[in-house]
Amino acid sequence: MTEAIAFPQTRSCPYHPPTAYQALREARPLSRVSLFDGRSVWVVTGHAEARALLSDQRLSADRENAAFPVTSVRFAGLANRRTALVGLDDPEHNVQRRMLIPGFSLKRTAALRPRIQQTVDQLIDNMVAKGQGAELVSAFALPVPSSVICALLGVPYEDHDYFEELSRRLLRGPTAADVGDARDRLQAYLETLIRCKRVEPGDGLLDELIALRLETGEINVQELVEISLVLLVAGHETTANMISLGTFTLLRHPDQLAELQTDPSLLSAAVEELMRFLSIADGVLRVAAEDIEVAGEVIAKDEGVVFATSVINRDAHVYPEPDTLDWHRSARHHVAFGFGVHQCLGQNLARAEMEIALGTLFARLPGLRLAAPAEEIPYKPGDTLQGMVELPVTW
Ligand code: HEM
Repeated sequence: MTEAIAFPQTRSCPYHPPTAYQALREARPLSRVSLFDGRSVWVVTGHAEARALLSDQRLSADRENAAFPVTSVRFAGLANRRTALVGLDDPEHNVQRRMLIPGFSLKRTAALRPRIQQTVDQLIDNMVAKGQGAELVSAFALPVPSSVICALLGVPYEDHDYFEELSRRLLRGPTAADVGDARDRLQAYLETLIRCKRVEPGDGLLDELIALRLETGEINVQELVEISLVLLVAGHETTANMISLGTFTLLRHPDQLAELQTDPSLLSAAVEELMRFLSIADGVLRVAAEDIEVAGEVIAKDEGVVFATSVINRDAHVYPEPDTLDWHRSARHHVAFGFGVHQCLGQNLARAEMEIALGTLFARLPGLRLAAPAEEIPYKPGDTLQGMVELPVTW
């Protein structure tokens, strides 16, 4: 056992796990860490144990449980609040998930590919038209997934500045009060949108849910608002971070990038390996609903459990030379999209967006490079989704 280290910590390099997690890597598969409020929780770092525990229904995702871990002072603003899908246990979770599966099927996602390609091309045209140099997060990484999730859900993209700013505050607001307020405002925005859509329907997934689930009385407005909030935020913030951090990482690995540019058939393997390597959702959370025996330890009822995905996805038993970015390994079975009943609902969509965005960006701007020293480019703190705050580039 190692001494309890603080969790989460900020990465010393945006694409590697925090240096301080080295002790956790050595102490695999399970150890203790302490949270900002002094609470001690379990951290899972072994790959096999992570997959077993993420499939174990004795671990609960219920955010309304007072024992559910809070990993940062800012997220105290969300404590004890009901969260759709990702914050519910089965059977309630399963009812919501089954409602949404058709909207995120491989077929529906494949049908969105031309639209994603068109968005990506347009954004690159705009960057090029403005002349040399751009800030890639605002010019590309964020607008790609943001406009795609708007089209999918039927949220007007004209509102993007408003909801993107609220999502940013929800995930990275300075105080608990600010995070709580951002969530209230997002909820109010979606409530108004749903009210308008009931009068004047559109053709998005939200309109489908209104017609097939809300008007039939299967769910109520509050529930639909909670579901929409999760879909809207998860649908753009995550992929935006993967595109920005993925671009930065590729620019810092010129050999791997050159190989990808020469052989675009590697793209889908590259996206999977980037998912493993970057593990941007680094800290999936649960609370034990019962005692659970694992790896010679007992996770007691009401103890918090965090899954350090950046460490799990670099378990050398599964991924030889885990700290090397390698398109030729099999990165399958990583847990960067989670695992078990809550495994990412939007993963098909996220993969399509990443493939099209990264593939097209480096094909159309082969001379893309950083426009500032790498060490000076700001990235996100350890307690939230990992990604670049800004990414100045030129070509
Ligand atoms: C590369 C981008 C993405 C990453 C890294 C990511 C990561 C994750 C992770 C780790 C989970 C599991 C959380 C848990 O077990 O507590 C999750 C769940 C989820 N994700 Fe994603 N996600 C991404 C993109 C998306 C997109 C584009 C959507 C579209 C709406 C989406 C919607 C969801 C939803 C609804 C859940 C909850 C599923 C459930 O609880 O049944 N995600 N995601």
